[in-house]
Amino acid sequence: MKDKFNLSSEAFDYLGIGFYKYWLGENEGFEFINPSLVKILGYSSRAQLMKKKFVDLFCDIGERNKFLSSIKNSKRVKFLETRLLKKNNKPIWVAISAFLAKNGNRGNRNEYLEGLIEDVSLHKQMEEAVAMERDMFQGALDNMPDAIYFKDSKNRIVRVNQYYLNGMNKKQEDVVGKTDFDFFPKQQAQQMFEDDNFVLTTGKPIVGKIERTLLSNGEWNQVITTKIPVYDRQGKIIGTMGITRDMTAYANLEQARFKMMMSALVVLGRALEMRDPYTSLHTRNVAAIAGEIAKVLGWDDNRMLGMKLAAELHDLGKISIPLDILNKPGKLSDLEYQLIQKHVENCCKLIGDIDFPFSLGLIVGQHHERLDGSGYPHGIQGGDICAEARILAVSDVLESMTSHRPYRAAPGKTKAIEELKSGCGSKYDAGMVGIVMDLLDKNDGKIFWQSN
Ligand SMILES: [Fe+2]
Ligand SMILES: [Fe+2]
Repeated sequence: MKDKFNLSSEAFDYLGIGFYKYWLGENEGFEFINPSLVKILGYSSRAQLMKKKFVDLFCDIGERNKFLSSIKNSKRVKFLETRLLKKNNKPIWVAISAFLAKNGNRGNRNEYLEGLIEDVSLHKQMEEAVAMERDMFQGALDNMPDAIYFKDSKNRIVRVNQYYLNGMNKKQEDVVGKTDFDFFPKQQAQQMFEDDNFVLTTGKPIVGKIERTLLSNGEWNQVITTKIPVYDRQGKIIGTMGITRDMTAYANLEQARFKMMMSALVVLGRALEMRDPYTSLHTRNVAAIAGEIAKVLGWDDNRMLGMKLAAELHDLGKISIPLDILNKPGKLSDLEYQLIQKHVENCCKLIGDIDFPFSLGLIVGQHHERLDGSGYPHGIQGGDICAEARILAVSDVLESMTSHRPYRAAPGKTKAIEELKSGCGSKYDAGMVGIVMDLLDKNDGKIFWQSN
């Protein structure tokens, strides 16, 4: 038995694990302490530690009582993590195991504890570092004024931050395991699902996508979303992380500013109408035609708006041309024609430096340019003319030739079609001409535009 005991002690020493035997009752005290325990608790000799009472080694009274009651009730303690006092009175994190044994031959002193004490300070430090990192991460997530969400490879929500929960008026347990189909209208959830799948299958992020979402209170908001793939340690994509920022306030402000600017332009348009109602009607019709073409091209709302606005303003420069020249019946002299051509530059001067979200000055400045370079004011060609200006060119010709003016009758739709067809691909963009012809065909050859 003695040999066995010594062998265990050496093994524990080899492993750096403290081993002890401690008698309880009268004259309580250590009977055995291995060198590792002496070292763990920072004593210079075994004799010094042998003098201490076991309970006095505890830093925390609550932990000590927990240890004692466990011994009393279940006669054992398994791997209790607690802090003991070292010789220098500094605490050290240890894990204590103890077993209450009896030896009937020793009178009052017949109960003893036998067990192990392991230094877990390193483990504890790592645990605390991990906990701190986790708390910092969670704290940052929860304090972030953006909705942040993690989803697995099946697009099920794994975790979300507090901002997300507040926005949805839900608790973490209400959303974990669910998908966007549980919270958003079907069409919107489907788009989110497709975006998540794009990130999952390609590994490419979606950055700064602007979308509208329906909130639980029934209101829509405008958000900007970024989604990135989440990888495991082997580099396999296991899910996605998304950040969605509410841009509603910003979008509303932008919209208000844009409305103000549009109001100013409306005033300008009215001034033009008061002076020259025919040009005003012409620009409205051209905007309607250009809008129909852009619709066929499937342009988004913003591009469509830029197109229509450019069309509304394209002849604004005529405001500086004398009316008797603008409305002159019969042939214009070269000088008069040059003066009329000036309306393009005049228009660019009027609106060119206004800060629009689209290149309005460029579009308007190119509306009389032709693909073969025969247009004005710069005689630029082909791909140098932007798509919007190419639409404007076709729409402008179609409208002008189908409208009456006080100084001349309308050449008519047949002549307009002839002009567009003869210049198709040389002066006018063949694609745009094709769209116009289709639109006329679908409308039984009648005009398909309706200006406001
Ligand atoms: Fe023009
Ligand atoms: Fe025009």
